[in-house]
Amino acid sequence: MMNRRCRITGDVVTNVLDFGRQPLGNGFLLPNNYKDEYFYQMSIGFCEQSFMMQLNEQPSPEKMFHEDYAFYSSTSRYMGDHFEEFANYLLQSEYLSNKDPFVVELGCNDGIFLKHIASKNINHLGIEPSLNVATSANLNGVETISEFFGIDLARKILKKYGQVDAFIAANVMCHISDINGVVKGISELIKPEGVIIFEDPYLGDVIRKTSYDQIYDEHVFIFSGLSIQALFSNYGFELIDLLPQSTHGGSMRYVLAKKGVYLVKDSVSNILREEHNIGLDNIDTIRKFSEKVQKSKKDLVELLSFLKKQGKRVAGYGATSKSTTILNYCGIGPELIEYISDSTPIKQGKFSPGMHIPIYSHDKFVDNPPDYAVLFAWNHAKEIMEKETNFIANGGKWITHVPEVKIL
Ligand code: SAH
Ligand code: TMP
Repeated sequence: MMNRRCRITGDVVTNVLDFGRQPLGNGFLLPNNYKDEYFYQMSIGFCEQSFMMQLNEQPSPEKMFHEDYAFYSSTSRYMGDHFEEFANYLLQSEYLSNKDPFVVELGCNDGIFLKHIASKNINHLGIEPSLNVATSANLNGVETISEFFGIDLARKILKKYGQVDAFIAANVMCHISDINGVVKGISELIKPEGVIIFEDPYLGDVIRKTSYDQIYDEHVFIFSGLSIQALFSNYGFELIDLLPQSTHGGSMRYVLAKKGVYLVKDSVSNILREEHNIGLDNIDTIRKFSEKVQKSKKDLVELLSFLKKQGKRVAGYGATSKSTTILNYCGIGPELIEYISDSTPIKQGKFSPGMHIPIYSHDKFVDNPPDYAVLFAWNHAKEIMEKETNFIANGGKWITHVPEVKIL
């Protein structure tokens, strides 16, 4: 494993786990592209100064985010509800008391969040480099520019649109290796009393649930309150609120502003203390996580091999980018998982990255159900269980790997 430097402090990170050769998490492809398929060596390190968990190596942004980006935010109804709640939270907050606010969202995807801001005629701007989803956002009435955010774009936005009251991001801050460029850009762009509000998968949940599938090419960081504090304090910001979220298997909403502008809520000291108590600032915690990940791999392969020997049919449910990590790390291909059902049209008819399991529409799951389904979209379990009562009624069973491998 290579020893690289922390993107926050410049210190050498401690390597904790090697996932081997991995393809792009969202790199669904056709057989005629197998020969050109891109792979990189995926491993994670932990910085004992910034407490930041991070990939040692990440593919270039242009390889991951482009005009054929496979993830459309609006495929989940629950995520739709979540972003409506997020928009209401912002609109009702003390941070937007200003009469004519300007809201910018990083990685707005198909407009799932900003459409609720746009529909209230509030000045807004989405920044979304993946052109296909940016086009959907524009069609949804969300003013969106298709570019990567960094210091250069921040300056262009400042010149053309002026200063920002609220800088929002969901599931994108943790995607950007040049996070210093992003925070510098935001720092120049927002008003002195402006706020930054973003949410991302939370290290505390990843550790508690052994949800190692949150680690894939796009997730260059897995944040905690402690690591966010370390990053943003370098630019004069402080955490003013922390709000745990149930989305994506356990996320955290971080609220930040320039030091001293707002009252710091009690949630900040409470959650930072809790993070210290559970050891999110301690390499030993991360090492224990690494051991559990290796056990999870062994258990999943054993279970699927056992079912295969019994002549059972197993499919996957949800061709998630997370499943790319599981399948490639565990070496699970079509011999163990016959197909994966997914509701996203752009993924259907293609094959999973690296292991090349066919992806079919949900019709296949209904018409030709397996005996067992591995719940790769486990973060949407509630929504899926509500929908799939027939699968269970007809004798089908779910397999999960969080917090440990088991048949539900
Ligand atoms: N916010 C949405 C989308 C998350 S997926 C949601 O929570 O569902 C991450 C998105 O961020 C992708 O659409 C990707 O194209 C975009 N993205 C990646 N790098 C970016 C960058 N540097 N600047 C702005 N957006 C970026
Ligand atoms: P995500 O976990 O990254 O949000 O991806 C979820 C994937 O699962 C996405 O490709 C859509 C798919 N999916 C289904 O196939 N059926 C469903 O009911 C839900 C909620 C998601």
